[in-house]
Amino acid sequence: MMSRGATRVARSVIGHMGPRYFSGAAMGPHDTSLGKLFACGATGFLHGNPAKPSENVMVAWFGYGGIGSRQASTLALGDKKVEDEEEVKAVKSGAAGGATAAAGDGGNGNKEVVSYWGVEPPKVTKEDGSEWSWNCFRPWETYKADLTIDLEKKHVPVTFLDKFALWTVKTLRWPTDLFFQRRYGCRAMMLETVAAVPGMVGGMLLHCKSLRRFEHSGGWIKALLEEAENERMHLMTFMEVSKPRWYERALVFAVQGVFFNAYFLTYILSPKLAHRIVGYLEEEAIHSYTEFLKELDKGTIENVPAPAIAIDYWRMPPDSTLRDVVMVVRADEAHHRDVNHFASDIHYQGHELRKAPAPLGYH
Ligand SMILES: [Fe+2]
Ligand SMILES: [Fe+2]
Repeated sequence: MMSRGATRVARSVIGHMGPRYFSGAAMGPHDTSLGKLFACGATGFLHGNPAKPSENVMVAWFGYGGIGSRQASTLALGDKKVEDEEEVKAVKSGAAGGATAAAGDGGNGNKEVVSYWGVEPPKVTKEDGSEWSWNCFRPWETYKADLTIDLEKKHVPVTFLDKFALWTVKTLRWPTDLFFQRRYGCRAMMLETVAAVPGMVGGMLLHCKSLRRFEHSGGWIKALLEEAENERMHLMTFMEVSKPRWYERALVFAVQGVFFNAYFLTYILSPKLAHRIVGYLEEEAIHSYTEFLKELDKGTIENVPAPAIAIDYWRMPPDSTLRDVVMVVRADEAHHRDVNHFASDIHYQGHELRKAPAPLGYH
């Protein structure tokens, strides 16, 4: 029987199998003002987000030998120790506990990852040769937010379902306002734990439908999963500026249990209602982030430096601040608004989503 430690190693390395097929990207400076930030042009197509010609990029991949292990032992994350690093350490000790092959620990208790399956973690580097700091996303998943998007655009409810969707969202906002009031940092963090659910549920259900019906999805599975991942990155970012208290963690636990199931059922019964609700939720998110910006401008919330994870994910200048982060997150929410209202409209027009090409890489 495979031990628990070996199982964890297997899970970890399997997660790295994708990038091994996309080695040797073209490289060069992306933007001198961004210093350490890079995008991957050659591999950008993976996410439907090809780098612009001006964005010269560099991602190096050395998949084998001892290099992967070296990455695991030397992940540098700037000022912060992030979960990635802890996970890598956990994998190391898990490997040591359960692997069939032995690895030396140098007497310090940090075991090397045992590559029993012949798959090593990739080494992704920046242009200057320094290691990419994040395992949770790679350079080819980063992008510059489109801040020109219309933030004022709203969907006018017409049908009964539209009005029901809007009423649902407005009703949900009332307890949210009451609970968080003007603590926008905490509010953003908590709401992102909910916002990342619909894309995953919708993507999962479309995935199952594609399997059941032996038909293509039109790219909508990937588009919705991209949205879920993007929302989760919002959460990973706001976690750096606002730490959840124990009762907030408990609240997320309870809300997720209810919301996941409620959205799951709604999507099965009426995808057009589900997407409309998310469209209106995103309109509310834009409003919340606008209020967040007002508080930052008034000085009631300190405009601290942007977290390192945000600078890398949105390819922001190194001297960016929390205000810049809120701006790009708000732009993301506007894109989610468009995608979900568009998806609902497709259903309203009597089509299935697969009939309209999905807006992949729409940020
Ligand atoms: Fe979000
Ligand atoms: Fe969103």
